[in-house]
Amino acid sequence: MMKDKLLQKFAELFGDSEGVKVYFAPGRVNMIGEHTDYNGGHVFPCALTIGTYGAARKRNDNELHLYSMNFERMGVINSTIDEFKQMDNWTDYPRGVMWAFEGRGMKMTSGMDLVLYGNIPNGSGLSSSASLEVLTGFILRDLYGFDVTNTDLALIGQYSENNFNGMNCGIMDQFASAMGKKDNAIFLNTADLSFEYAPLVLEGAKIVVTNSKVKHKLVDSAYNNRRSECEKALAELQTVVDIKGLGDLSEEQFEEHKAVIADDVRRLRAKHAVYENQRTIRAVEALKNNDVELFGKLMNASHVSLRDDYEVSCSEIDVLVDAAWKVDGVIGSRITGGGFGGCTVSIVKDEAIDSFKEQVGKAYVEKVGYEPDFYIVEIGCGPYVL
Ligand code: GLA
Repeated sequence: MMKDKLLQKFAELFGDSEGVKVYFAPGRVNMIGEHTDYNGGHVFPCALTIGTYGAARKRNDNELHLYSMNFERMGVINSTIDEFKQMDNWTDYPRGVMWAFEGRGMKMTSGMDLVLYGNIPNGSGLSSSASLEVLTGFILRDLYGFDVTNTDLALIGQYSENNFNGMNCGIMDQFASAMGKKDNAIFLNTADLSFEYAPLVLEGAKIVVTNSKVKHKLVDSAYNNRRSECEKALAELQTVVDIKGLGDLSEEQFEEHKAVIADDVRRLRAKHAVYENQRTIRAVEALKNNDVELFGKLMNASHVSLRDDYEVSCSEIDVLVDAAWKVDGVIGSRITGGGFGGCTVSIVKDEAIDSFKEQVGKAYVEKVGYEPDFYIVEIGCGPYVL
């Protein structure tokens, strides 16, 4: 259905859809391990079945025609190389990836027509941008025969987001999108990119994502600011202990050395990074032991730390989490993703799903004034051709 929709649009815009291929790359939801991926810590995300679709065909000239079905706008670039930096609009993500490929010696040998459609709600914190980056890299590899692995697609996506879009994100989102596996979460050590898949089919419970539909301003600058606070704290700690990242520290080591961090706020930021990493390791262990209850408790503790020490939650998200914690049958609930709005992720027993939606929805309407959206998560695979 989605394929037909894209092909139809493609034909409408570019005359016909002969030889056009349709591709997909997923968004992600992170179960636990938040703001650890740029601190050499662990994360535990899974790919979703929603993401970004692209219908693409090479052109005979050097032009790039990028059309977004979401914005109903066309971006035309008259050369595959020139003017990349000057244009500031929605085409930034695909153009950034093309720019990053070219920087690695993989120059597109011709232009391309590309129609894009994403079904991740914008600004929901479910990685619509990472899915678009991975999708673009996946299409370039397929159309131009570039020799890159899926891990490379993730790294190139992150590189372009850092250096073209100015958002200093870690590797989690792009990695989850590029390496996703159906019904599995990815336990990734961001210090060296070693990872393992962990089955996440919960018996008698489901993963529910709740969208606050809030996107606060200055998200990127607040994010970059957290990142530099952690870097400063790391440099201070490195004067007394031999570590590469905050993820190298146990809680005990952190407590022993934390006094060297000169600023109270910075100390709290570093504390979150260290404790959250250890929580993530423990949570995956709990899941392996079939101890979903403990996994849920660690999710709750993650939220408290993100709210109080890392300060990336907001009042609307706290309303969702507080209400979720009160529902009988909720195993765990927390903010997910970069923060300052977006979504929560909860594990909810099957029989409690209806009351979860009702009670959390009611509390949100009462305190925030409108309904949140609920999605029951299906864990999907990485990028593919339709
Ligand atoms: C955003 C970033 C990720 C990660 C999360 C927080 O999604 O893109 O790299 O840092 O925030 O865990």
